[in-house]
Amino acid sequence: MEEVNSQLKLKDRCQEVLDKNWQGSYTIPAEGIYPHQWLWDSCFVAIGLANYNIENARVELRSLLRGQWSNGMLPHMIFANHDRHNRDRKIWQSWRNPHSPDDLNTSGMTQPPVLAEAVIQIGRKLNICDRRSWYQDMYPALIAYHQWLYAERDPHQEGLVLLIHPWESGLDNSPPWINQTHMHGRPWWITLVEKTRLDQLVLLFRRDTHHVPPGQRLNNIDALVYYSVLQRLRRKNWDIDAILNRSHFVVEDLVFNSILIRANNHLKKIAKTIGHQLPDELRECIKRSEIALDKLWDGYYNQYFSRNFVTHKLIKEPSIATLLPLYSGVISKERAEGLVKMLHDKKVFDSKYPVASVPLDSKWYKELGYWQGPTWLNTNWLIIDGLRQYGFHREADNISKQSLNLVEQNGPYEYFSAKTGKPAGAKNFSWTAALTIDLQAKLKN
Ligand code: GLC
Repeated sequence: MEEVNSQLKLKDRCQEVLDKNWQGSYTIPAEGIYPHQWLWDSCFVAIGLANYNIENARVELRSLLRGQWSNGMLPHMIFANHDRHNRDRKIWQSWRNPHSPDDLNTSGMTQPPVLAEAVIQIGRKLNICDRRSWYQDMYPALIAYHQWLYAERDPHQEGLVLLIHPWESGLDNSPPWINQTHMHGRPWWITLVEKTRLDQLVLLFRRDTHHVPPGQRLNNIDALVYYSVLQRLRRKNWDIDAILNRSHFVVEDLVFNSILIRANNHLKKIAKTIGHQLPDELRECIKRSEIALDKLWDGYYNQYFSRNFVTHKLIKEPSIATLLPLYSGVISKERAEGLVKMLHDKKVFDSKYPVASVPLDSKWYKELGYWQGPTWLNTNWLIIDGLRQYGFHREADNISKQSLNLVEQNGPYEYFSAKTGKPAGAKNFSWTAALTIDLQAKLKN
């Protein structure tokens, strides 16, 4: 009885957070620090909402489509329409690209394609008639998005899509991306700022470090490098041909590609349910992707890595990404078993509150460093789903239970120490609240 009560309390608490962050047709990730609509955040929120307010879940996803560009891209941010956010709009200047929407401003890049997953999770809660009309509703936008991903982001038809900025990966400063940041030349003015120690001034302009201790986030110099990459993309008017013409900072990201492969599978199911055939060309791309994941496998380290698009070299910096091919669902059982061993290894991912975003023995591991150590509910959700696909229910249950414990003890924070459970980042964070509700419901079934 006590347990049932505490589960109910947890659900209520999470619902309250989602209500508070609801803006009428979408949910912001957290007040103050994240005032706009983010692509994968909204998808995770919709997955949570689908458990108790299916209509709002549908509204949440439909509102994402407002931002879709005419070439099919789904931008990673849609800016809130308020004067106080003019600065954000000016930083991005999406209007420079003729494909961007006329009536609102967005970012010029995308984020992991979790949309098909969210559409399916909602569909599962509907009766067959409503499911069909829901899928029919979302299908054209999904097709356009996946076609865009292959057309623009897989120019050599390798089966792996490329990313042009770390923010597209959703795991902004995880080790593979920081590694790439440090490998490439940076503008002279950043070196000048570093030498003259003026980088402290950058704090005046950063929103994240107003809300979260600076030590937990990207250092000022790396933050400037990220900003300079954005500036360069903006100068190219967010045009992919111009961007790729002389680009060095381009990565075939493991998390993104694993999610895309799974999303393609969802897309096939959606098409089948409504009696459609995926366009032939897209079917070819999908086939190529499933095989291409193998190119990211390293037989010496026995794990997957992201790859530099230009040099084709694997970026051998271990991170939580290595577990995401479980979620793709296309790796062999034998490979899956190898990955699961890492979850049982105290030096790697076996901590009290799994799954650390970077292995515990990594030189990058920082207990509360952004994407460099803490546990996040969204990556846990994806890994849990992957584990279940391969029949590792014991491991999936353990990660689910410990994730719920974290939120029960601390509230829905943005991330938590994988060792002690200490909460950090933004409080009242939407996807933590939403995925808690979903994990709780799935654990009961
Ligand atoms: C940060 C995260 C990203 C998330 C965004 C809004 O940029 O790295 O994954 O979508 O915040 O929550």
